[in-house]
Amino acid sequence: MESTIASHKIQFPLGAGISLQILADDPYPFFEEMHQGEPITWFEPLEMWYIARHADVRAILLDRQNFTTAFEHSTIFDTFGAQMLTSEGEVHTRYRTAMQFIFSAQHMSQHLEPRIRTAANQLIDAFQSRDSVELREAFASRLPVQTILAAFDMPLEDEPSMRLWYDSFERALQNFTWQDDVRDRARDHVGQFHAYVQAFLNRVRDGDADSRFLEPLVNGDARRLTGEEVIRNLSIIFFGGISTVEALILNSWWALLTHPELHALVKADLSLLPKVIDETMRWRSPVQTATRHVVRDIDFAGIRFREGDTIACLLGPPTGIRRSSPIRRFSIFTGRTSMPIWALPRDRISASDSAWQRCRPGSRWKRC
Ligand code: HEM
Repeated sequence: MESTIASHKIQFPLGAGISLQILADDPYPFFEEMHQGEPITWFEPLEMWYIARHADVRAILLDRQNFTTAFEHSTIFDTFGAQMLTSEGEVHTRYRTAMQFIFSAQHMSQHLEPRIRTAANQLIDAFQSRDSVELREAFASRLPVQTILAAFDMPLEDEPSMRLWYDSFERALQNFTWQDDVRDRARDHVGQFHAYVQAFLNRVRDGDADSRFLEPLVNGDARRLTGEEVIRNLSIIFFGGISTVEALILNSWWALLTHPELHALVKADLSLLPKVIDETMRWRSPVQTATRHVVRDIDFAGIRFREGDTIACLLGPPTGIRRSSPIRRFSIFTGRTSMPIWALPRDRISASDSAWQRCRPGSRWKRC
């Protein structure tokens, strides 16, 4: 193993020279360098492969024989157990089939959108009269949690517990160095979250609480999942929608605040906002990587991947954009598409993601 790591250092100097701190501060120069000179690299601090070129990313994400999400020694499996994002094949299909009705575009626009609008307005009302505000704390980190609670008709007062659990899950998902205290805390919070959801499901089943989305899961048909499966899949649905949306809100603001001319245009014409969000998805992707694990030793693009290796496929720039596009420029007027969700297999994009895509103004998919 040590000799493999030593040879990786020689073969992949870019990955060997990069630190977690550099990635946390600004990963884009590193991603660009990778794209130009070392499109597959071994990232030493996390002991995983990083893949930068679109064709390689796509090949890996579409190759279910050799690359999988169903891997028990992953941080996501360690945290959430078996659910749709850690399963493949029939199991994955069963989980998705049972859950995807929740995110029909019609449900989202008729039932959820008015609630999101109300929640957003209430959050803004609470700080509108203040001289200054920390926007992440006061808005971006709160709206996604409130949205998830609203989507399932759960009490908004539970927002602080949900946030607390979420923060420890997020740390656990990034715990590639397997620190015990991080895992223990997440396990404890998973237990609390499961108990919370179970209690709510019991109330729905007994008619003491209404939830149009959860009701079919507790009184469902033959496709229905076991109680444990329902809760594990709800975990990934609940928490999949938090940091992604928080990051998208923050990055969209960042885009506007660092482009004052565009900001002025958008203020004068709010119908440009969806384009800003779309371009932000491309420019500063809220999800940087899709992770896969190597099923068996395999040669890929002249490099030997070993069984169990972890592969991080880059989804944001430069991977997700056309070769001719200036990577760093933010522009809503070039007609580029957003983050390459389209590079993922269709059944991997969450029902919520694809419903969102369908609803995007100007989308090349059906409008809702
Ligand atoms: C800006 C918003 C979002 C972005 C950029 C995003 C991105 C992604 C990506 C790239 C994947 C594929 C991951 C992989 O295959 O490794 C994914 C899957 C998933 N997302 Fe999202 N997502 C967003 C919002 C949401 C929301 C709001 C929810 C839930 C309410 C959600 C729930 C899920 C779930 C459950 C999966 C797993 C689907 C499966 O494996 O079948 N996402 N998302």
